[in-house]
Amino acid sequence: MFSSIRSSSGPLREFLEFQQFGRKSELDEVLGVPRIANEFWTSKQRAAHSLHEVSYRACFKPQLPRFFIERFTNPGDWVFDPYMGRGTSLLEAAFLGRVPVGCDINPLSQALLAPRLAPPTMAEIEQRLSEVAWERKVELPEDLLVFYHPTTLQHLCGLRKHLQRGGLDHIDRWIQMVALTRLAGHSAGFFSVYTLPPNQAVSLESQRRINEKRKQVPPPRDVVQIILRKSRSLLLDLNNDERERLHAQAGQARLFTASSEQPLAIPSQKLALVVTSPPFLDVVDYALDNWLRCWFLGLNPGQVTPTVTRREGEWQNHITNVLCNCYRMLRPEGVVAFEVGEVRKASLELERLVVPAARTAGFEPMCVLINQQKFTKTANCWGVANGAKGTNTNRIVVLRRPG
Ligand SMILES: C[S@@+](CC[C@H](N)C(=O)[O-])C[C@H]1O[C@@H](n2cnc3c(N)ncnc32)[C@H](O)[C@@H]1O
Repeated sequence: MFSSIRSSSGPLREFLEFQQFGRKSELDEVLGVPRIANEFWTSKQRAAHSLHEVSYRACFKPQLPRFFIERFTNPGDWVFDPYMGRGTSLLEAAFLGRVPVGCDINPLSQALLAPRLAPPTMAEIEQRLSEVAWERKVELPEDLLVFYHPTTLQHLCGLRKHLQRGGLDHIDRWIQMVALTRLAGHSAGFFSVYTLPPNQAVSLESQRRINEKRKQVPPPRDVVQIILRKSRSLLLDLNNDERERLHAQAGQARLFTASSEQPLAIPSQKLALVVTSPPFLDVVDYALDNWLRCWFLGLNPGQVTPTVTRREGEWQNHITNVLCNCYRMLRPEGVVAFEVGEVRKASLELERLVVPAARTAGFEPMCVLINQQKFTKTANCWGVANGAKGTNTNRIVVLRRPG
């Protein structure tokens, strides 16, 4: 098998001969599919565009989707992410002039992505913030006083009410998105008293315990200034060309709030590339993590039911269904880059579940690409446990829809 791969042409050959840092690719195989490891891209902290800097559990670094978008698509092509999360793939696709198409079961996902596809100017944001009735009479949810000073909570509720009036434009949506990212965190850049990082809201009870342990009471925070500061930092890298390109893509974008197992209103054979990362079995509880953000959006977190299963068979069935949908929408020769992590202390390589699912859906698995970075602590890309929790390397199952 290895000699035929070495004499192949196209992307496989490119991956095998990849030499970014003078390091040769390593090769083995899984379920008859070549598995190729190298440092294909380097995801340095904060090295990507500032507009990506919105926290979300288990999001990937923008360098990952960019690697595949640049190789497998052209400007104007449609790029799909069936588990879009904060929208990393799709924002990167829009920056590169591709049409963003996405789906996530969590409504939060659209609220985080859509405003960043149509960013307003700082002047527009300032003007709109000056129009909010911050002191409006609203019933305060007293439970939330474990996170917020009473004045901060009043202002947050005033803003929430303002945003619930309907008919929001891109400026309101931007303010809503920024406020969502500032609700709770571990520094004075957030509305809350010290708590866990913003993408992992703790329960009220846990926050009470944190407050007791740290002997802290929520200090007043300036909601307007915090929103302006975060807006400035998100917009820091954005130039006029990029702004225009994003606005053009925003007009064409198709974003869905649904399970990706459902058929979506996307024409058959329209997509050039699917680049995505599913929930990894039971590693992250997205509903629990997002309850405070759901409150701000006026959503019931109980209605958000992400796929979180401990059973490998159920997970594999789910992936098969999603890949069947992707197959219908993808054009012949179109590619899927399906990122799976290492779970259960690296004892389960999820590509072993994805490859059979992909074959059932009609795809031809091209390879499993393993991106290893020098500074990651892992040295075990073939799955030898190292005792570390969570995902250490990026493992991407690359599939092709036959022509
Ligand atoms: C690993 S995260 C994706 C993160 C994304 N790549 C990013 O950079 O933000 C998985 C996402 O799958 C979503 N999800 C879970 N079950 C789903 C389903 N059945 N259909 C669509 N999305 C689902 C979760 O809400 C979560 O946002």
